[in-house]
Order: sequence, then C-alpha cells, then structure tokens
Amino acid sequence: MMQRIYFDNAATTALDPKVLEEMLPFLTEKFGNPSSIYSYGRESKMGIEAARKTVAKILHTKPGNIFFTSGGTESSNTAIRAAIRDLGCNHIITSPIEHHATLHCAEYWADQGLKVSYVTILPNGHVDLESLKALLAGHTEGKTLVTLMHANNEIGNLLPIKEVGEICKAYDAIFHCDTVQTVGHYPLDFTDLNVHFATGAGHKFHGPKGVGILYISDEVSIKPMLNGGGQERNMRAGTENLYGIVGFAKALQMATDTYEEDAAYIESLKQYMATQLQEQIKEVSFNGDWNGDSLYTVLNASFPNTEKSEMLLMSLDMAGVCVSGGSACSSGASVGSHVISCIAPGSNRVPVRFSFCKHNSKAEIDTVIAKLKEILAQA
Ligand SMILES: Cc1ncc(COP(=O)(O)O)c(C=O)c1O
Repeated sequence: MMQRIYFDNAATTALDPKVLEEMLPFLTEKFGNPSSIYSYGRESKMGIEAARKTVAKILHTKPGNIFFTSGGTESSNTAIRAAIRDLGCNHIITSPIEHHATLHCAEYWADQGLKVSYVTILPNGHVDLESLKALLAGHTEGKTLVTLMHANNEIGNLLPIKEVGEICKAYDAIFHCDTVQTVGHYPLDFTDLNVHFATGAGHKFHGPKGVGILYISDEVSIKPMLNGGGQERNMRAGTENLYGIVGFAKALQMATDTYEEDAAYIESLKQYMATQLQEQIKEVSFNGDWNGDSLYTVLNASFPNTEKSEMLLMSLDMAGVCVSGGSACSSGASVGSHVISCIAPGSNRVPVRFSFCKHNSKAEIDTVIAKLKEILAQA
C-alpha cells in the first residue's frame, strides 16, 4: 500500500495511542452510568470530574467553568445562542473569515432579525481592531456579542485575544472566542484573557473526535444548553461521553507536558516547508501573516492557476498526500475558500493548506515537494 503523508492536522489529528489506552477502561470495565449512585456509576463520575479538574488546571480556571460538549461546533453554537437568549445581546460582531461553526450561526441569527456586523479584515488576514472599536462604539441601543476566533484554521493568523478582550470590556460587550485551533497548542490562561466564552475540540490535539469544551466565565450566567437529566451541573443534559471526556483531558495533559519541544519542532517543519516551496516551486506565495502572528502548525501556500494546479488537491491525494484547500470539496478540485476570497478578492490562484503535527518529518516535506514539482510539471 502507498505510504500516506498526512499534512492536514488542522482538520484533525491522529488519536495518540496513550490517549486510547487511558480511554479503553471506560469503554470496557468502567462502563457505569456516571449518574448512577452505586460503585460502577461513581467510578465513571470520578473519571469525568478528574478530567474536568485536569482541563481546568491547564486552562487556568476552575472546574466549574468547564462544560464538556460534543466539540467546537456545539460549543460555539451554545455560546452565541446563550449570549442572545440569556445575556440580552441584540448585536453580533464577527468577521467574514470565521469558521462556519460561527459564521453560519451569525447568518442564522441575522435571518431571525438580529443585527450582525462584520469587522474589516486587513490584506494580511488580521482583524482591523479600529473597525472593531468603531462597530462597538456605533451600537448604542443594547448589548453586543463579539465573536472572533483566536487562530484562523485556514491561514493560521492569530488574534491578539487579550487586547480584543480588553476592548470588549471597555465597551461592556460579551466576548466569545473560538479557541479550537489554540487549545492544546498554546498555554492559555482563560481567567486572564477577558473572554466570557471559549471553546476546544479534542481531535485537534491527538484526542478523540466528538468531544470538546465550552468555557464559561463566572461573569456570565446562562440557561441550560440541553434540557433533560442534570448532567454537567444541569447545563447539558444527556449521559456523558465518558471515554471521550477522559481522552480529551489526557490529550490536553500530554500536549501541555511537551508543548515547548513540540511547538519548536513543528515550527521548524513549517519554516522548512516554506523555504523549500520558495526555493523549488516557481511563483509560490503564502496567504496570511504566515511568518508573523500565526499558528506554528499551519502554512497556507498559493500556487499560480494552471491546468495542472487546478486539480492540485486531487493529484496530491492520488500521490498519497493529504492536504486541504480551505473549504473541503468532494471532487478534490479546490473551490473558493471564504477566507482566501476575503483576503485576496478576485484572485484565481490555488490555495493549499499544509498543517503539521509532531509526527511529521522533514523527509515527508522533501517527498511532498518532489511530488508537487512532478504534478506541476516543474521538475
Ligand atoms: C477554528 C475551528 N472552529 C471550530 C471547529 C469545529 O470543531 P468541531 O469539528 O469539533 O465541531 C473547527 C474544526 O473543524 C475549527 O478549526
């Protein structure tokens, strides 16, 4: 079988065998319903509460501020809905380059008659903070929810989250931050960041899929996300994803333990890829602030549009290389990414996102560069 090269770690990551090992007992002998009062149930409940404690400690908050969910999408939907339903927000400020988990929520609420405004995005992909301030200042009839992502999953740009939190505070706005690409990748102190809501998804840092967190600060009090049993302190009813929650905490702990060496190694891969592309592929350029305030995991390259590059994703897939072109397209041809069209309007260049993890190597990059040269007939 062809050896695959996986450079799509911003989409999802491989489950770490040690995380699986931690999860397995909760799929087998520790199967009790966490709400049951006998020993089997208590054992499961302890697994969940230990996980919550671990997560809270790493993110510098209290266990009571961490709610387990099904992932980033649910967490963002919940935060946005709660801000409108329970906290009196009648205005959403977001950006045109958010993940669809946020953008489609904003569109839904706009359809319901809510005022939705979009900050200006600078050509390098950063949020224009002056436009954020102007939008906040211009809304005088009620409360605003600001929902901006910490790191853009397509181009990697990082938001100055603390500064945005301070701006929101100055205007008495609620701040929801999609931190899906940074939880498990950076040391984060939720208490210090002035965020009201933040999110995380286990599968982005070698944990399991279908489990995430919603951080809710003490400053806000919201109504239940799901009604039913009293799980998650009455906030999200339904028997918990026990093994997922245990896996989330283990993956976050592991990511935190080796953060410095992993981040340095992955950054070196990103820089090597960028240099190799620049040296070996004609007319390549990069999207976003790739060499500045950017994720160390993501490099979004842009290739000139030719007959060969149009089918680049599919050709790379056939060569065993897994990458993404922004918004995934079932045919493998790259279709318009809302992020790229925002920062490079009218461009017909072909974007390819390479995203790395600690399991990747320079040798893999060399192979991908050679395959790219072949596909683009630049050999
Ligand atoms: C920035 C960002 N937000 C939200 C999500 C959605 O997370 P999930 O797939 O866990 O629902 C993703 C992942 O796809 C993401 O990259």
